[in-house]
Amino acid sequence: MSLLSIEATALLYLVAAVCFILALKGLSSPKSARRGNLIGAFGALVALVTVFLSTELDNLALIIATILVGSAIAAPISRRVAMTQMPQLVALFNGVGGGAAALVAMLELTHVEGIGAVIAVAFTVLVGAVSFSGSVITFAKLQELMPTRPIVFPGGPIVMSLVALASLAAAVWLVISGDPLASYVLLGLGLVLGVLFVLPVGGADVPIVISLLNAFTGLTVAASGLVLGNTLLLVAGTLVGASGTILTRAMASAMGRSVAGILFGAFKGGSTAGSTVASDRPVRSSSAEDVAILLGYAQRVIVVPGYGLAVAQAQHTMAELATTLEAKGIEVVFGIHPVAGRMPGHMNVLLAEANVPYEVLQEMDEVNPQFKTADVALVVGANDVVNPAAKSSPGSPIYGMPILDVASARQVVFLKRSMRPGFAGIENELLFEPQTTLLFGDAKESLTKVLGAVKAL
Ligand code: TAP
Repeated sequence: MSLLSIEATALLYLVAAVCFILALKGLSSPKSARRGNLIGAFGALVALVTVFLSTELDNLALIIATILVGSAIAAPISRRVAMTQMPQLVALFNGVGGGAAALVAMLELTHVEGIGAVIAVAFTVLVGAVSFSGSVITFAKLQELMPTRPIVFPGGPIVMSLVALASLAAAVWLVISGDPLASYVLLGLGLVLGVLFVLPVGGADVPIVISLLNAFTGLTVAASGLVLGNTLLLVAGTLVGASGTILTRAMASAMGRSVAGILFGAFKGGSTAGSTVASDRPVRSSSAEDVAILLGYAQRVIVVPGYGLAVAQAQHTMAELATTLEAKGIEVVFGIHPVAGRMPGHMNVLLAEANVPYEVLQEMDEVNPQFKTADVALVVGANDVVNPAAKSSPGSPIYGMPILDVASARQVVFLKRSMRPGFAGIENELLFEPQTTLLFGDAKESLTKVLGAVKAL
């Protein structure tokens, strides 16, 4: 017997849906993101409890055991994961969501009635499977378990088209016959399609594909809502689908790409270059003291943070260096590239953690014209987002991506550990330019030394 009336259930679902919408609103700014996350988690808890109280569930013990096992696996992973590995985790969780939606739809196949519901099942199985296997590949790319560069093979577009056509045929077979065998075939084809879909996507574009797959998962969850007759799933899935689509478009335009170009660019002869080999060409390197002198006698410094700042966890030292320079009358601003780091807003979150005021964080379009008048561009653990190959090398995998124009500054200082390239795996000519100086070492150690030397000036 269910413990909640239909009205009370509908009301609690409405509360959960409102929480999800408020969560999205909160997540739109770093200041309110933490609150947004908590509101979203509360909404999910309300939804979960409501399901238990309003539905007569079969296999209750099995469901609770599964939730406990899932939580026991996910909670420690989520607590322990480094901030720099967050996109991989999101990719994995997202894929699991799509896979779960596909499996639930397959189980529901024998219970659903009406052509509309069977079409929703076919959609959920196919898109959920694509989302699952595609997300596993993006996870492997980001975790560097496989090459991050685009992987193409002869006849790739033909194989992909054939698998897509076969998937469509299996979906039609499923809708017409309702045969469970068709759902297994569709699941298998969807899994293959997901892999083929993500393999040709190259390094720097992987985050955009994660966002796209996230939108796919949202759509499958919404379709599951139709299959199961559950309004909340429909609302939550639509929110994820819509916000994922908006984020995908925003990230693609920040990278100067079309979504189709990202997915199929490598097939059309786009670059498949990329490696992690360190260059052995000569560069100008100097000591922390020399860098401190450059900074200490500058009037205007633009800091360009990147992934390495997060790896080194050097945000607090960076913030202290900025404050120390400002105390000496030097103007310091931070130039933030939209895909610097490994997740949207990564640099904003990192610098907010170190209490760097929002006013000194400037977006790419705002900061780019200012490099001309900057005495020093201090590049801390960034590489691809300042790589001029994005403007000058049509063959490069990052070609067309807008970059921070650090080359226009009078002096450019790179803080990095070695001559290894960035995420996209391509050499950065700026490292070899006459106005560039390198300070080798872990960003936190280098910044600590520079900070000490600036204080001693
Ligand atoms: P990257 O191009 O990846 O360059 C990072 C640089 O940091 C490297 O040159 C590396 O050189 C240096 N580094 C790493 N650890 C360091 C440490 N402990 N101390 C000092 N330096 C360190 O980073 P980026 O410029 O921020 O560009 C981001 C790239 O990631 C883009 O290609 C982007 O498309 C991609 N991506 C972005 C996202 C999002 S949404 N932001 C998600 C996934 C991927 P060494 O190894 O020599 O130290």
